[in-house]
Amino acid sequence: MDWNVTVGELLRDYREGWTLPGRAYTEPALYEHDVSTFWRKDWIFVAHLCELRQPGDFVAVEVAGDSLLVVRQDGATVAALHNVCPHRGSIVTEQRAGHCRRFVCPYHQWTFDLKGRLRAAPGLDARHDRADLGLRRAHVRELAGLIFVSTAENPTDFGPVAATVGPMLQPQGLAGARIAHSEEYVVEANWKVLWENHAECLHCVSNHPEYVKANFDRFGPNTTPPHVNARIAAIAEANRLRWGGTALEIEQVTTGFPSFPDREEGRWYGCERTALVEGWATESVDGRLVAPYMGEYSSYDVGTLRVRVLPNLWLHGNCDYAVTTALFPDGPTRTRARVTWLVAAAAQEGADYDRERLVAIWKATSEQDWLVCRRQQAGLSSSAYRPGPLSEESEYNVIRFLSWYVKRLGG
Ligand code: FES
Ligand SMILES: [Fe+2]
Repeated sequence: MDWNVTVGELLRDYREGWTLPGRAYTEPALYEHDVSTFWRKDWIFVAHLCELRQPGDFVAVEVAGDSLLVVRQDGATVAALHNVCPHRGSIVTEQRAGHCRRFVCPYHQWTFDLKGRLRAAPGLDARHDRADLGLRRAHVRELAGLIFVSTAENPTDFGPVAATVGPMLQPQGLAGARIAHSEEYVVEANWKVLWENHAECLHCVSNHPEYVKANFDRFGPNTTPPHVNARIAAIAEANRLRWGGTALEIEQVTTGFPSFPDREEGRWYGCERTALVEGWATESVDGRLVAPYMGEYSSYDVGTLRVRVLPNLWLHGNCDYAVTTALFPDGPTRTRARVTWLVAAAAQEGADYDRERLVAIWKATSEQDWLVCRRQQAGLSSSAYRPGPLSEESEYNVIRFLSWYVKRLGG
């Protein structure tokens, strides 16, 4: 399949303000183009720093067909190594996570240290230089406890996301947190379907009964009743008196989502702190706290922090827990979504928190989202599908996401 022809057709048929032509969500050749344009160029969130406490701790992740080992080498450094043996290409480990002093390829026992250097190579002819035969490295950045990798040769500058998101995320204390629970979902939908869904709350009232009790997102910025705006203003004002000028200040005081991604400068990351509904100390089913305070939080009048980094991460940070959702595409019509709940490292399950209560709202909300995404994908694959109109008032971030996508695709 000639990529350029397919991309060319897509660019020709795309109309801003409408969903994409169907093949953007189904066509294997276009999926390959997505992989090379986004997933092998951009920064991909792969792990939490708190998963890698000791030298030798590692996690293995699959990013659009590339298996990567994210490993702590010593006290300070985390590296990303391609999980591909330089001998004959075997995967070096099939473990999802673990601890080791060296990686030994199961095929012919080539052995690599934590930096990926070849340390033993049975059968290797003396004429080959071992220094050239280590595990290939990918780029790594840490951001307030989140680890990102890029397999690009020259990745995009990570500086702006670190400068924007870092200070706001720092108080969440993710680096010193603990994973309380995680779920890996296989969603039968193209990765863009999941982003489109995440970019709007028009579907919230009918699909997220738990979420809408805690959040104001269901209101569009121009159609919010004045009394709701007044309530948000009052919550923000009370917060400002205590936390004004700090990272805990509620700055997002309008309803709806802030515009994202940024059209003018092409910003692919964003974060804001916004109000929770009165009586909701955290995003939970009943509004009550579900875990001890984490990070620098010492009270619940801090609203909730949202972070998103294209193409694969969104995070909600509450005073007592944080939840991350990481997307990993697995073919044109399938995405793996890993949802991870974090609490303060000292919090003990059973004594300090109940796991069911902790995960309830985001487990429900995530699964409700995957259901609507799966249904949408089924329709997108139909011969009857035609691009549909997006609302300027309530789906403006879907419009932005798609125009960002098409712009990138067009180079
Ligand atoms: S393929 Fe790994 S040692 Fe041969
Ligand atoms: Fe949703």
